[in-house]
Amino acid sequence: MTRLAGKVALVTGAGMGLGAAISEAMVREGASVICADIDRDATEAVADKLQNAGGKAAFQELNVTDEAAWEAVVQRTQDVFGGLDIVVNNAGVAPVGKMLEDLTLDEWRRTLSIDLDSVFLGCKHAIRAMKTKGGSIINVSSVLGMVATDKGADYCAAKGGVRQLTKAAAVECASAGYNIRVNSIHPGFIDTPLVKGAIARGVEAGTMGSDNEAYELLAMLHPLGRLGYPKEIADAAVFLASGESSFMTGTEVVVDGGYTAR
Ligand SMILES: NC(=O)c1ccc[n+]([C@@H]2O[C@H](COP(=O)([O-])OP(=O)(O)OC[C@H]3O[C@@H](n4cnc5c(N)ncnc54)[C@H](O)[C@@H]3O)[C@@H](O)[C@H]2O)c1
Repeated sequence: MTRLAGKVALVTGAGMGLGAAISEAMVREGASVICADIDRDATEAVADKLQNAGGKAAFQELNVTDEAAWEAVVQRTQDVFGGLDIVVNNAGVAPVGKMLEDLTLDEWRRTLSIDLDSVFLGCKHAIRAMKTKGGSIINVSSVLGMVATDKGADYCAAKGGVRQLTKAAAVECASAGYNIRVNSIHPGFIDTPLVKGAIARGVEAGTMGSDNEAYELLAMLHPLGRLGYPKEIADAAVFLASGESSFMTGTEVVVDGGYTAR
């Protein structure tokens, strides 16, 4: 398992869910990984587990909406592991879950800040750090960056923005002669704390039946008849980080059990 041997990766939102799975998969493939997140306890536990299993991983606190914190995490990655080759902009939050007409400007701005501004900052500082040696930037969007849902205007706008930001960054890096590829991943519904939390909130508010009913409804949206596993997104991220995807930039890797196919 050496597809990322010698590479240094920075993964945001690494404390749980997709970010934890991506960190684990990249360490397993030989990368050294900075696990960055706003949640210190959860993310230190992820980094410790990877280290205890013999991998190279370290925790760094990061609020992805804070530009000074981005500068610090890129610097620390280079100090700890001697470089930076892969940045995964994964941290994000779920939609507020309100009709657009009821969404406040503050709620809108919070989602856009954590789900889109963060990716702008991550791309900006990754490009600055990687432009001489090259690298791979992977932005985690969503199927909801491609097709819409109700009660998700904030999230759909942010994730659609991530999709186009990715393409703009890819084209710009290529035109500038930087050997940096930039791609987005578009997961369907994946069983993570984010989805569990959204279901729990829906059940509590009475907009969804029981947890089981909600899972079944979500599963039915995917022709494969189930939610995805975090590892299935992590596998796509490893592919985009590795040389196996060397002719891919500015593209959308859809990992959705067929959600967007019908
Ligand atoms: N789970 C899904 O079904 C699904 C589907 C499509 C896209 N996504 C996207 O995948 C990404 C990861 O989702 P997940 O399901 O693993 O979520 P999750 O809630 O399980 O984990 C998100 C992580 O991001 C961290 N985070 C939140 N705000 C942060 C901030 N300001 N700074 C730094 N870290 C912060 C959290 O602490 C947490 O560790 C998100 O961008 C999400 O929108 C998820």
